[in-house]
Amino acid sequence: MAQAGNNLDDHHQKPQPEGSIILLPIILHMQPHNRSTMSPTAFWALAFEQSTHVNPRQGDDREEEAFWQEYAPQYDERSPLARLATDVIADARALLRSNDSLLEIGPGSGAFTRRLAGCVTSIIGVEPSAAMRAEFVRRWPDDDAHPPPQLIAAKWEDCAAPTADIVFSANALYRVTDIATALLKMTGCARRRVILVQTVGRPHANPLVVQAQGNTYERERADALCDVLGELEIKFRDRRYLVDRGDRTACEVALIDWPSAGKSSEFDAD
Ligand SMILES: C[S@@+](CC[C@H](N)C(=O)[O-])C[C@H]1O[C@@H](n2cnc3c(N)ncnc32)[C@H](O)[C@@H]1O
Repeated sequence: MAQAGNNLDDHHQKPQPEGSIILLPIILHMQPHNRSTMSPTAFWALAFEQSTHVNPRQGDDREEEAFWQEYAPQYDERSPLARLATDVIADARALLRSNDSLLEIGPGSGAFTRRLAGCVTSIIGVEPSAAMRAEFVRRWPDDDAHPPPQLIAAKWEDCAAPTADIVFSANALYRVTDIATALLKMTGCARRRVILVQTVGRPHANPLVVQAQGNTYERERADALCDVLGELEIKFRDRRYLVDRGDRTACEVALIDWPSAGKSSEFDAD
């Protein structure tokens, strides 16, 4: 499985006068064997808690909505992953059946939703941002036979979620503190399968970062999700793709899926 490299492009270091000592930050990329010191769920929770000190969007719903009010109208153009990730979409579609109902967490503008819509019978979205919900409706194709899906105005962790054959989510789990409960809720709501898409690596996805005992620990969100699924003893599949977004290097994307409760032996033959 590919691991993102140590990307120092984000560290804007000031030029130092000659002879001065340059203190470079040491970033430790957590591997599974580092778990002995902190469980994956504890790592996720601590990373979230610490992120609220540096990113006001993380802990403040009004800041988050203010961000989307500004960004939502250009989301599909500035974040074209769903349009470009052809192989990811093809493999996600292969997991769907034409009579499936699909519950999508954080559909945003509906970029992934529109690409999956033709493969299922019905869709419900759980989308907390009013700006994103408006964008979702605005971009939905004008087709009387297929009106826009119902959108529940709530966060996943707070909503009374309906069950569906498939629970799907793409890059929407960045504001969830209790990730184990959120993943178990997805598993509980899915009659057949849970499917997650998660971008890997800067500049498109920031890793989880924890400062502890004078060290900085980083773990890519996709890897951290897999760590937590492992901790929950959920058997999952983790496939990685390279998507050309026009950057210098291709963008890695994870497609993680697992069968719902009661179907846990499905990967035994893999
Ligand atoms: C980066 S956008 C991704 C949108 C879409 N899934 C895509 O990939 O094109 C993240 C979306 O997740 C939503 N979101 C953030 N936190 C959420 C939560 N706790 N529950 C449900 N949706 C959430 C945001 O409002 C936003 O629409």
